[in-house]
This record gives sequence, C-alpha cells and structure tokens, in this order.
Amino acid sequence: MKNIVVIVGSLRRQSINHQYAKALEKLAAGQFHCHFVNTDLPLYNDDLWASPPAEVTALKDAIKAADGILIVSPEYNRSIPAVTKNAVDWASRPYGQSAWAGKPVAITGASNGSQGTAVMQSQLRSTLVILGTAVMGDPEVYLTFKPDLLDGDYNITNEGTAKFLKGFLDKFDAWIDRVKA
Ligand code: FNR
Repeated sequence: MKNIVVIVGSLRRQSINHQYAKALEKLAAGQFHCHFVNTDLPLYNDDLWASPPAEVTALKDAIKAADGILIVSPEYNRSIPAVTKNAVDWASRPYGQSAWAGKPVAITGASNGSQGTAVMQSQLRSTLVILGTAVMGDPEVYLTFKPDLLDGDYNITNEGTAKFLKGFLDKFDAWIDRVKA
C-alpha cells in the first residue's frame, strides 16, 4: 500500500475539495494510505525558520516520507489559492532543503462550474516542475461538484464518475511506480 500525503487547498469546513479528497481516499482503499496534512499554516515568512512552526515541520516530514503527494485544490480568480501556494512554498524551503525534489505529485480540483480549476492546475504544475517534482501530466481531472455527487459517507453515487476517478488514481499509482523505477 502506498503512503500518500493529501494537501487540500481550502480551510472551509464544508469545502467541496475536502469532500472530493475524502471520496478519492475512499476509492483508493487498500491501494493508498492517505494522510491529510494540516494546511492551516502561517503565511510564509523566512524569519520563522529560526523556530519553525510545528505544522510546517509536520508538512515537510510527511512529504519527505510519502510515496506520492496528491494536491486537491480550488481555483481562486483563475489562479492558485493562497492556502495551496503557501503550503507548497513552505515545503520548498529553507533553500537547499526542499521536501519536494523528485516526489511524484498529482493535482486535481473541484469547482461548482464546468471549467473550474483548469487554470489553477496549469499554474500549479509550472511551480511544481521548477521544484523538481515528477508531476503527473495526464490525465487532468476537473471535477464539477454537484450536491448529489456524494452520499453522506463520501461514496460517489454515480458509477461512471467513480470508475473515471478510480482510473485517475490507478494512473497516479502507476506513475509513482514509474518515477521510482
Ligand atoms: C472562487 N471560485 C472560483 N471557481 C472557479 O472555478 N474559478 C475561479 O477562478 C474562482 N474564483 C474564486 C475566487 C474566490 C476568492 C473564491 C472564494 C471562490 C469559486 C470556488 O470554486 C468555490 O467557492 C469553491 O467552493 C471553493 O472550493 P472549496 O473551498 O469549497 O473547496
């Protein structure tokens, strides 16, 4: 079973991206052990490295130990939300001590509209490439989140959607194997 760190780029209690990430965790049962890291971090500040916040150390340690990282994020104003970017930035520092180098990463996101998160994903991919991650390029999944997508226990109600998303997880699984090899 692969050890996957899940970074959710929303702090909202009813976050559709958090619900989506929980549904992916459920679909990957027996395949991925998902560890949801705390993304409620202070804003990046170089000065804080003098006494690093515990949640930042936990984020970096989790990424270093992970077989892969799954980023599930909303899109804000056709870009990367601060919560997501802040987590990526913290884990990339101090200079020379990034947690990202060589790590397999997959990106996805949910929005209420049909085209949401495409621009966020594209911009985040550019950032992750310069951090030396092995970010999966295909498939790209932009989930349109409808109220009846999930039941109360994070099961996907539509069989076709579940199959499609399982395919995404299987490709990430194979991608991790390829990167390791
Ligand atoms: C949004 N939203 C949004 N959606 C989208 O698909 N593209 C966008 O550019 C934006 N821009 C945007 C800016 C800001 C400041 C907010 C607060 C929201 C809508 C967004 O997809 C929606 O609020 C989601 O519910 C946010 O995800 P979580 O928090 O529910 O996971």
